[in-house]
Amino acid sequence: MKNPIDVNLTSPEVLKDPFPTYDLLREKAPVYHVADDDIYVLTRFDDVRSALRTHEDFSSVAMGRIHSHGLGRSDGKSDVSMDEFAAQLETTRNMATSDPPDHTVMRRFLAKRFTPKRIEAWTSKVQGFADDLLDDLIEAQKGGSADLAHDYAYSLPLIIIAEMLGVPYERRQEFRRWSDQAVGIFSGAPLTQEVQMGCLQLAAFFAEQVAMRRANPGGDDLISLLIEKNPDDDPEAMMDDGVIVQTCTLLLIAGHETTANLLCNATLSLMEHPEQRAELENDFSLIPNMVEEVLRWNSPIQAVYRATTRDVEVAGVTIPKDKTVLCCVGAANRDENIFPNANQFDIHRDIEEHLGLGSGNHFCIGAHLSRIEGRIGMETLLRRTRNMQLSGEPTRALGNILRGWTHLPVKFDIVEPSESTDS
Ligand code: HEM
Repeated sequence: MKNPIDVNLTSPEVLKDPFPTYDLLREKAPVYHVADDDIYVLTRFDDVRSALRTHEDFSSVAMGRIHSHGLGRSDGKSDVSMDEFAAQLETTRNMATSDPPDHTVMRRFLAKRFTPKRIEAWTSKVQGFADDLLDDLIEAQKGGSADLAHDYAYSLPLIIIAEMLGVPYERRQEFRRWSDQAVGIFSGAPLTQEVQMGCLQLAAFFAEQVAMRRANPGGDDLISLLIEKNPDDDPEAMMDDGVIVQTCTLLLIAGHETTANLLCNATLSLMEHPEQRAELENDFSLIPNMVEEVLRWNSPIQAVYRATTRDVEVAGVTIPKDKTVLCCVGAANRDENIFPNANQFDIHRDIEEHLGLGSGNHFCIGAHLSRIEGRIGMETLLRRTRNMQLSGEPTRALGNILRGWTHLPVKFDIVEPSESTDS
């Protein structure tokens, strides 16, 4: 297939600011073929949404082979036994990489135990951890090295998911290291031995945690709930320990860096729009809508993969069967046909639907939790700091899937408790 324009989605300039390229693609080449990787890229809202909602044509198996079939992966960047590792991961069953009917069973199984009511019950704990972490960030600033990404944004979702899963406190540091390594798969970085080891160690860790709970059942953490079988959980056989281990790993990986990026992207968006930050400081009720606008405007997940199950026509182009398709939710979320002045950040925007948390049967199962963490994480920052600015060069997360930061050095004024707005 011949493209009407030529773009390079993995060049450092485009990764830094992909939005002008997305604008071009939506207008001139809504189905763009990356010949080197044989990947088809969708950028218009309606096309991306429809692909995410049509699992019969667009399978999620592609999500299980990002490391081997992702954008920029065809150049053999991996430095170790990729085939073996890939084979191992591709046989892994989890809900993000499955289609119905398997997906439906796994999703229902988790959804029954990861309910909005249970998540809601964590609100005050999220607030407590956010305040503790902000105390640490303030201390770090006194020492001259406050890093909003490392010290605050990454730590908050990691602590929450570790607490929910019931990971013992003394194992937190290892857990964090493996999880950071495992997330490397989504960063577009080479599949190094380190990344592979992180994934394998994390799986071994959860296998050990599952075995411990089998030996000593009845706890109220999420892993204990996952090993309990309810009489109405139908095809029981599917929920073996392998799937439970994969579910825990998925929850950690899917919920950790994404939420961290939401907090970093929100903070930076407000640094770029100080007048909107000032409004929020005076009215915390605007924060939930601001979080939605960040999910749209600066989506922490920019794209997800699908694989065609047959020849499929999109915007007049036939995508052949068995091809990898990159559904750019970050581009769809800037579609002018849906969002007037789409490239403008506006905390007052009336958003009917964005695709920052996906759409269809794989719609983010952690959406409620991420919104609570986003709201409380940002409210705590807005309540306790003023004039937040960069104090050094930030480090961007690698790759075209995640949009965020691994280091965000900041400086800020501290609001003393008596001065804080009672919003
Ligand atoms: C701002 C934070 C978050 C963002 C931007 C985000 C985004 C997404 C997106 C776009 C999808 C759809 C993937 C697809 O269609 O292939 C998804 C699915 C998923 N998310 Fe999130 N997510 C966030 C937070 C979380 C949290 C906190 C958790 C759990 C602790 C979580 C767990 C999951 C899981 C398990 C799936 C797979 C659902 C399925 O396949 O049915 N996410 N997320």
